Amino acid sequence: MQKGQMLYEGKAKKIFRTDDENIYWVVYKDDATAFNGAKKGQVANKGLLNNKISSLFFKMLKKEGIDNHFIENISENEQLIKKVEIINVEVVVRNVATGSLVKRLGFTEGEELSEPIVEFYYKNDALNDPFINEDHIKILKLADPGQVQQMREQGLRVNTVLKRFMEQLGIILVDFKLEFGVDSEGKVLLADEISPDTCRFWDIKTQEKLDKDRFRQDLGGVEEAYQEILKRLEAKI
Ligand code: C5P
Repeated sequence: MQKGQMLYEGKAKKIFRTDDENIYWVVYKDDATAFNGAKKGQVANKGLLNNKISSLFFKMLKKEGIDNHFIENISENEQLIKKVEIINVEVVVRNVATGSLVKRLGFTEGEELSEPIVEFYYKNDALNDPFINEDHIKILKLADPGQVQQMREQGLRVNTVLKRFMEQLGIILVDFKLEFGVDSEGKVLLADEISPDTCRFWDIKTQEKLDKDRFRQDLGGVEEAYQEILKRLEAKI
């Protein structure tokens, strides 16, 4: 497989074409950003860690019947994925109140939610990824109502599987963000990445944060936290 022209450079990844029109080549970067790029830094080995962690999650989800764009790893920080047209909606699922839920709606920090909450955000840097509802998504033509329903259902299925899986590793799945794309057959397919950049993970015993909040909140030990997630995953899978 040959790496072709770069199609897109995001905050954490670069996407390239390949000689197969249905396959893209992803390079995970060490760059770290938060607050829509307002805070920037580098985390040693982040590309390698997130590539490995995300691949393990995608493989596990596939085994559990949740299809996704992942094909295979090709190096420590690169993977091949199925080509999809990304839907510009970020799907957030929450089990425990923290982050913007506490800031915006006054939930109590650390409060366990009686049931998972699904939220949609408009993936648009210029607008700062605002909170949107299904009517906005329809009128903005980001996705049709059937696709929104599928994103919601898949988000909740990922939550059920991932939450149970992480509990076995001694980790609380606090919340996470997913992205979806439409594949060549028109199917809504789970895409992007699932990693400590896009999920909040708290240690069950110590409540220690093992995710990107360590970078956002200048807590230190970012690389070590990502290493800890990978170590527990590799011990289990
Ligand atoms: O900041 P907020 O509480 O809304 O984040 C909810 C979840 O979505 C967190 O796990 C966070 O890491 C993730 N997220 C993300 N990318 C964004 C916004 C949030 O991965 N642009």
